[in-house]
Amino acid sequence: MKFRKISHLKGELRIPGDKSISHRGVMLGSIAKGTTRISNFLQGVDCLSTISCFSRMGIEIENSGDEVLVHGNGLRGLKKPFPDNILDCGNSGTTTRLICGILAAQDFDVILTGDASIQKRPMKRIIDPLTAMGADISSVKGNGCSPLAITGSQLHGIHYTSPVASAQVKSSILLAGLYADGETSVTEPYLSRNHTELMLESFGAQIKTGGTTASVQPAKELYAQDIRVPGDISSAAFFLAAGLLAPNSEVLIKNVGINPTRDGILKVFRDMGGDITFVDTCEGSGEPSADILVRSSSLHGTVIEGAIIPTLIDELPVIAAAACFAEGTTVIRDAAELKVKESNRIEVMVRNLTAMGADVEETEDGMIIRGGKPLHGAVIDSRLDHRIAMTFAIAGSMADGETEILGAECVNISYPGFYEDLARLAR
Ligand code: S3P
Repeated sequence: MKFRKISHLKGELRIPGDKSISHRGVMLGSIAKGTTRISNFLQGVDCLSTISCFSRMGIEIENSGDEVLVHGNGLRGLKKPFPDNILDCGNSGTTTRLICGILAAQDFDVILTGDASIQKRPMKRIIDPLTAMGADISSVKGNGCSPLAITGSQLHGIHYTSPVASAQVKSSILLAGLYADGETSVTEPYLSRNHTELMLESFGAQIKTGGTTASVQPAKELYAQDIRVPGDISSAAFFLAAGLLAPNSEVLIKNVGINPTRDGILKVFRDMGGDITFVDTCEGSGEPSADILVRSSSLHGTVIEGAIIPTLIDELPVIAAAACFAEGTTVIRDAAELKVKESNRIEVMVRNLTAMGADVEETEDGMIIRGGKPLHGAVIDSRLDHRIAMTFAIAGSMADGETEILGAECVNISYPGFYEDLARLAR
């Protein structure tokens, strides 16, 4: 895909459903009793991987495009995949880590696998706590990564203090806790996204939260729900950035999830001088959403660190790109987790922004961006990381000359139709 500088961005946009909530809807729907109806389900490749894994375990799932019906079989109703016991999670870290919590407690064994990227991502962070619960789970190659061999076992409740603020780790343990013989709790250094806790509660699990701790009681059954998935703020992020950066722009982004554990990008962009307003807000199943109006703004640098990091972790690439167009210096720290995403997002961002002429420095746990230097087009290797491809589609739309993105089709992981939406709004 090739991009040139746009003159402005105008119009209305409804971005696709939230990836995290879509995954969880299929997972909880599969182990609940009754039919869970999920509307505005994200038809991204990652969420289709979750559907495929549960279909292979005997769950009937009807996917009509916008709506997904999950005919759950109850907490103990999953079946060993047949004819082989291999479940393919594709590129999806959320599928891999969350499903482990469920599979650890079944009465069958499976091998979990995935693509080249997933086979490099750290899984010890879930292997260790699940093993402490009595799970039989190991890395087949002994390198702490997928493929993982899991044999279901009787699990015990634990109180786990996680070294990382990770919703995938927290959720994996809480899901395993549904099957344990006592209370399970997770404490994290900072609060990560809480979609699992909210959804577990609505499905009837006994869950308590306070500060950075969530605890769950063993469950007898969960019960099917209707879920309306709000638009994904991580996908809206690209249009928030584009609307702020392109001159004379005004974009209305409809129905965006604004859960406070996900809204760090709004705080940071506002703090940088961004003109972002809520036009309308609503709430369903504890997940708030808003129509967000964004207008061109002159941005200035900021410091992004500490507790806000987990609330914008997936948005840091596009925030870093936006910071190149801001006056002054932006510092991102406490974000070492970026190194273990779909690519090493610190290294890939610094390399690609530098290729476009930005003044950006890699640090141990983030980057330092000295803004205000004009960017020029370059050839960008996305490393097949969806958020990198979309970030540079935006950067390329603001830069002089032509930007070419290699591996651009990877946006289908989280935002099918992204390039079409950008082309429709851009002038
Ligand atoms: C996710 C949690 C985050 C995030 C990922 C989705 C989730 O990962 O980066 O895109 O749905 O729980 P970590 O748990 O590794 O921080």
